[in-house]
Amino acid sequence: MNKTVTITDNSTGKSIECPIMEGTHGEPVIDTRALSKELGMFTFDPAFVTTASCKSAITFIDGDRGILLHRGYPIEQLAEKSSYLEVCYLLLNGELPTQQQMDTFTFSIRRLSILHEGLLSFFNGFQHNAHPMAMLAGVVAGMSSYYHEEMDIYNPAHRDMCAIRLIGKMPTIAAKSFRYLLGRPYVYPQHNLGYVENFFNMMFYLPNREMPMNPTAVKALEIMLILHADHEQNASTSTVRLAGSSQANPYACVAAGIATLWGPAHGGANEAVINMLQEIGDVKNIPAYIELVKDKNNPTRLMGFGHRVYKNFDPRATIIRTACHQLLGELDASGEQQPMFEIAMELERIALEDEYFIERKLYPNVDFYSGIILSALGIPTKMFTVLFAVARTAGWIAQWKEMIEDPDMKIGRPRQLYIGAAQRDYVPVAQRL
Ligand code: ACO
Repeated sequence: MNKTVTITDNSTGKSIECPIMEGTHGEPVIDTRALSKELGMFTFDPAFVTTASCKSAITFIDGDRGILLHRGYPIEQLAEKSSYLEVCYLLLNGELPTQQQMDTFTFSIRRLSILHEGLLSFFNGFQHNAHPMAMLAGVVAGMSSYYHEEMDIYNPAHRDMCAIRLIGKMPTIAAKSFRYLLGRPYVYPQHNLGYVENFFNMMFYLPNREMPMNPTAVKALEIMLILHADHEQNASTSTVRLAGSSQANPYACVAAGIATLWGPAHGGANEAVINMLQEIGDVKNIPAYIELVKDKNNPTRLMGFGHRVYKNFDPRATIIRTACHQLLGELDASGEQQPMFEIAMELERIALEDEYFIERKLYPNVDFYSGIILSALGIPTKMFTVLFAVARTAGWIAQWKEMIEDPDMKIGRPRQLYIGAAQRDYVPVAQRL
């Protein structure tokens, strides 16, 4: 028997049966689409806390059990055994690639990693101290002005081309924005380097200096990219989908996703965590800071703690915590990052024992540690969210592609509960009191 939920309007006695839909995993959802037609009502769900906005076969999260699967594969296995580009392929195509498919994919990404010289000149219009997220959003939106001949969203080959172009060029744009801030010359992508090595080279190469490539650093960044590659219908991904539902081009949609990611409640959290750790400055200041974030009269939050979906632990935080220990052990010979890491560890310990955090199920999220890893890799704080955007490009574009390929795609259009003034007549200015 098909399961349903009965919704009755007590004022009229009219009822409708709403079907219950079941996915592969996770909570069932109530199909409320008949509500407005049959009862003349909408659902009220600010911030979409209990709304499934789409069907998706890409990523599954069980927030209570700390599970994250991409196309069915657990994040722990992908972080240990896969590479970022292989995860990109998986997200985009649904299956792990054969060797030949992977070689072709990698070749295309490398081939399209270079920027049109005209796009490079966009950077000159930015302030010398602009936030690199502003540059990233602007330049990615600007890509639509260069590749419009291969931008027919209903052409599958064009969609694939847009995906490869975005994944290929994102690290180049990110590295260029970093070098622009420092006034350093642009470094072209190298075809003989892996995705992560190439990124490091574009970021840090100087003609007058040796550029050693540390395998531990490369592995740490690879893990960090894998962990951030997709996270189902989060704020930036939902933004990409909403923008895409109007049939806007994918570069514009991803630029909208970048803008959304920028906020400190989302991708900006990794930057905010480092600022917070620096503000705390010493382990002895932690108790006072904990009191501050618990104070309801103060808007300060413990950055890197809490998640809309994970109410037990964030599996990405567990993986990245281990990577963080390894990296600091091997790279941080000078111990430069150690005090910050010690403050983070102590903050985590105290917060996890505190009733306030236990009651509200607030656990460290991935960004609590990712900032420390990025700092240890020599990446400046302003670039943290940019790195998150580089990684999340795969998820954004895979989700956008899935939506366009869905025959039921419609423009996204939420409704509202209007609480403004009732209808009234216009009053000429001379008659207003
Ligand atoms: N520090 C202190 N208190 C918090 C925190 C925090 N980090 N997060 C939530 N709370 C409290 C709230 O004040 C609220 O308390 P109340 O019930 O007494 O009013 C309760 O916990 C529930 O909080 P909500 O804001 O309703 O939780 P929501 O699910 O909407 O928010 C969010 C999730 C935005 C991530 C929030 O936990 C937060 O602001 N965290 C800090 C920022 C952060 O780390 N963001 C990264 C998210 S992960 C990512 O994007 C990769």
